[in-house]
Formats: sequence, structure tokens, C-alpha cells
Amino acid sequence: MSGTGAPEPMIARRSGALTGEAHVPGDKSISHRSLILGAMCVGESRIEGLLEGEDVLATAAAMRAFGAEVVDAGEGGWSVHGVGVGGFGEPADVIDCGNSGTGARLVMGAMATTPITATFTGDASLRSRPMDRVIEPLVDFGARAVGQSGGRLPMTITGAMDPVPVNYTMPVASAQVKSAILLAGLNAPGETVVIEREATRDHTERMLRGFGADIDVNAEAGGHVITLKGHAELRPQVISVPRDPSSAAFPVATALIVEGSDVLVPNVGMNPTRTGFYSTLREMGADLSFENEREEGGEPVADIRARFSPDLKGIEVPPARAASMIDEYPILSVVSAYAEGRTIMRGVGELRVKESDRIDAMATGLRAVGGTVSEGEDWWEVEGMGPAGVPGGARVEARLDHRVAMSFLSLGLGAKEAVTVDDAMPIATSFPTFTTLMKELGASFEPIQAEQA
Ligand code: S3P
Repeated sequence: MSGTGAPEPMIARRSGALTGEAHVPGDKSISHRSLILGAMCVGESRIEGLLEGEDVLATAAAMRAFGAEVVDAGEGGWSVHGVGVGGFGEPADVIDCGNSGTGARLVMGAMATTPITATFTGDASLRSRPMDRVIEPLVDFGARAVGQSGGRLPMTITGAMDPVPVNYTMPVASAQVKSAILLAGLNAPGETVVIEREATRDHTERMLRGFGADIDVNAEAGGHVITLKGHAELRPQVISVPRDPSSAAFPVATALIVEGSDVLVPNVGMNPTRTGFYSTLREMGADLSFENEREEGGEPVADIRARFSPDLKGIEVPPARAASMIDEYPILSVVSAYAEGRTIMRGVGELRVKESDRIDAMATGLRAVGGTVSEGEDWWEVEGMGPAGVPGGARVEARLDHRVAMSFLSLGLGAKEAVTVDDAMPIATSFPTFTTLMKELGASFEPIQAEQA
């Protein structure tokens, strides 16, 4: 698990053109949900293309701990023999979710309406993140929770003996909170209603429908009213996981900033609740095309082609787009550093409670490599230095955050001087093949000794 071993510093040097195909891993959000929903059916679900990163493997272990049989059949194929809605047994030991907020929050939801007790923990990053946002609605169902001060892990949850359905308006735009409520609602009687004022990723709703749940989604003033009938009986499914647009963002962004590059990323999930980053890149003038657009397993999919784009312009990213690209702001800030003019990102306070405080982590690192960044509680601005103007020549901290580590390694490939990331190990949480895949495209990455970092 990230954060438990010795740090693995990595250096990124200015590279020649990146070319070829980048087969990024399966979607992280859909992978977590496949395992959890598979565990909540009676019978066998099969999953193709599961992300075998540490975050998802922690969720697989959690599902086993609650009584499901989860089998790695090899080559990305997995099978889950579930125990049914309300069928979770009490885990014998603490549930360690590693670095994963999604794993922790969704699994808490899935067990909160079954009368069992489980204790959740995670790595130092996850133990610093707020869980009260998910605990509050779960308590409304009748669950009880005792955690560290500030609603932090470790936390023990006892699921409701006689759950009541909830009608909950979400105070934050969070697909994790929405999903936790819907998963809890599966084992409550009557109708559970979740109101989100801003649309967030809708994989849970799509997948619940696929698994046979009675779920109704109504669009309302920028957001949704989601109604789920409880005491559901889910039917096992065969799931094909599309490749992750948030992981694809790294080879795509790197192709835009490294001279002469031309990279194809096939089979990427293009769910409209996830594609804000690509709309933003287009507005900045990126040379991007979406080929072979199609639908697979209820999700839109396309092949993305990205070419070196020397004329990128800084833009103001519309705040309403934040939820659809929340994980892509770190790498967007890197692209912004290679643009002309200022990129302004507002309405992004949620970045402060991700795997790290991503505004602070990126702003600190960007300043170290020669950039200029201004920031406030829920906004930041990055001054572009042009396609050949990023100095580099610094060591930056990943702060146990996979996306911060990958962002600065990407930045180093176009910078004048090499960039060292103090610890590349967290990358294994979401994109274990990142360095290999990028090196195959032509990236110059090299592990170095801790004392040289
Ligand atoms: C996720 C939702 C997002 C995202 C995370 C995955 C999910 O978090 O940042 O990486 O799978 O539901 P929030 O919904 O809390 O913003």
C-alpha cells in the first residue's frame, strides 16, 4: 500500500516526441462499483478490464472480508460471487482502504443498512480526509459511527438494524457521497431520494439500473433528483470496464506539451459526467480528436488522439465544469504552465480534501519549477510560460498523491531542466503501469536513489 514502504524517487527529463498507443488501465470508479455491486448480488458477476491498482484491490479485499468470493481469473478478468443485498457478514478484522476515499466511502454506504459492525482505516492520506460528509446521511438511515475527531478514520460503523429510507440534499458535489447513500438505500424499505444540485459522475446510477434496481433520475436545475426503491434484488452482471479518462489525461496532456508528439489512447470512457477536462483542453486550443465513438456496456467510449499543441492559450475554466473534471485539475495546471496566458480555476474547494490538498501541492511544486501561481480557498490561477518556457530543475513532493506525482513527472518531460518527484510509489494506487507505458511512448523517466532526490 502507498505510504507504507520506502519512498521511490523518480526523475523526469526533457524528452523527444512521444508517439504510439497508450493502453491506460480500467476506470477506477467503475472498478470499485463493479466489485461492490457484484458483492451485493446473489450469484456470479464477471468483470473484464478491472483496474488492478492498489485502491481497487483494497476494495476487493474489503468485499471478501464482508463475505463475497472475489476471484482474480487473470488478464483483467475477475469474478465475484456475491452475498446479496443485506447479506454482508461481519468482518473479522479492520477494513484497510489504503489510499482510497472512493473505496472507504462506498463500502461504508454498502454496509450501513446491515446490522453488523466494521472498523475502517487507511493510509496517512486517507486518515486525514473528512468522512463526516458520508457519515451524516448514513446516520439518517439509522447507522451509528464513532471515529477520530473531525470525522476522520479510523472509524467504527454499526449498520442499522431497522433502516429507514432517507431524503437527502447533498451539501457538497460528491459522487462518493451520492453513491454511498444509494448503496445504503438498497437495503432500506421504501424510497431513498438523493438530491444533487450539481451533476456528478453517474456510474452508480447507470450500474444500479444495469443490475436491475428500480432507480429513477430526474434532471433539475443543473443537478438531479435520484429516487431508488429499497429492498432491491440485484441480478449478477457481466461488466466490461472502459479505460479511465482520468488516467488517459496523463498521456494526452503529455503529448500536448512535448514537441512532435502524436499519441493514441484507445477505448477511453467518455461519460459526459467525466469529460470536462477534454472540453477544457479543446477550448485552450489543444490538437485533440475523438475517433471511433461508440457505446459499450452502457457507457460511451472513444479513442483519443492527442498531438503536440504549441499554441495553447490560458482560459477561465467554468466553475460548473468542476465536478466533471475534479481529478484532472492537477494535470490541467501542468498543461496551463505550457500555455500562453493565465488559466483561472474557480469553484474547486473540493481539491483541498482529495488525496492531498491538491491546490497547495500543485501550487508549491509549480512554484519550485519556476511557475507563478495565485490561490485562494476555492480557486487558483496558473501563469502560462509558453511551450518552451517551463524551467523545471527542482525536486517536488508527491504528498502520497498519485495524481500529483504523475502530474510533475509529466511536466518534467517538457521542461528545460529535469524534475524529480520525491516518491512515485503512490502512482500504483490508480495507474500501476504509468511509468512503463509512458517510457514505451518515449518518456525519459528513471528511478533514482533516495539520497540523490
Ligand atoms: C469518485 C468521485 C470523485 C473523485 C474520485 C472518484 C467516485 O470524488 O474525485 O477520484 O468514484 O465516485 P468526489 O465525488 O468526492 O468528488
